[in-house]
Amino acid sequence: MTQPEIVKGKGFEKVDRQKFGHDHLLGTKNLNKDEIEIILDLANYYADRLDDKAFKPDILRGNIILSLFFEDSTRTRTSFEMAAKRLGAEWINIDIAHSSVKKGESLLDTVLTLDAMLRPDAIIMRHSEFAAPDFIAGHVNCPVVNAGDSWREHPTQALLDALTIRRHKGKIEGLNIAICGDVAHSRVASSNMDTLVKLGANVRVIAPPLLMPKKLPHDSIQMFTSMEEGLKDCDIVMMLRLQKERMLDAEIPSEESFFADYGLTLERLDMAKPDALVMHPGPMNRNVEIADEVADDPQRSLILNQVRNGVPTRMAVLDLLLKNK
Ligand code: NCD
Repeated sequence: MTQPEIVKGKGFEKVDRQKFGHDHLLGTKNLNKDEIEIILDLANYYADRLDDKAFKPDILRGNIILSLFFEDSTRTRTSFEMAAKRLGAEWINIDIAHSSVKKGESLLDTVLTLDAMLRPDAIIMRHSEFAAPDFIAGHVNCPVVNAGDSWREHPTQALLDALTIRRHKGKIEGLNIAICGDVAHSRVASSNMDTLVKLGANVRVIAPPLLMPKKLPHDSIQMFTSMEEGLKDCDIVMMLRLQKERMLDAEIPSEESFFADYGLTLERLDMAKPDALVMHPGPMNRNVEIADEVADDPQRSLILNQVRNGVPTRMAVLDLLLKNK
């Protein structure tokens, strides 16, 4: 089998931005299929041009984008920064670990202080509290982009995952997609289940009973507690990290037993379709949810392609939110 191919789409320079009627990007759940497709088409356009260093659209020159990450991040924050800079915006990152939050300042006071000082054109925010970005969006006069809150939403991750599937499989509709592991505590799973169902995929989740959500966002999503059964006929296998920071002690499985029952090995991957591709939002815990030989398989793993697609996806989101203002 050859390296997963990239299906280049048309993309379009003159996207009808007025059809994207949102002031903020707080989750996927308030986006409809057409709006998701507008983002993906524009992201695809930017993805086709990512290696062209001369391509500097500069459409956000003069805009200030404020980054407020109250939780750790490697890929999400850096790719938002790269996206902002490729579009010509100025990027200001607040180092929360050394900010007045540590002196007991409330979230709202911190944001209002920075808002008064910087007058940002957009705020990119990650927070452990449920719907914190929605709360802040109600108090500032600029678009707020949710870069992940609690276990609830991580919209740009789901969008970049959808872009990655579209570029490597040529479509999303009709694909069998398994989301596996700690589904209950994963905002990536939550936003992905919603997005992929809206785009017409047959979504299933595979998790041990303790890590299975009590409620799924769409009735059509199938639940499996066995990898062997759930992986059958899958086109895409999406793995998740155990989100121990959001688990009660009683829920935390031993890493060895979790890998024995739910780890994605080449042997297990053989139960999916022969051309099935593997995804993981990162950070990966090797040999806990995914074996080295799967994570590093250049023919089967899309993990670094996902990372790469984070930049054009976030360019599309910033473009749509800021050019519409
Ligand atoms: C995820 C996150 O922070 O929600 N990572 C990411 O943004 N790529 C997933 C995780 O932390 O496991």
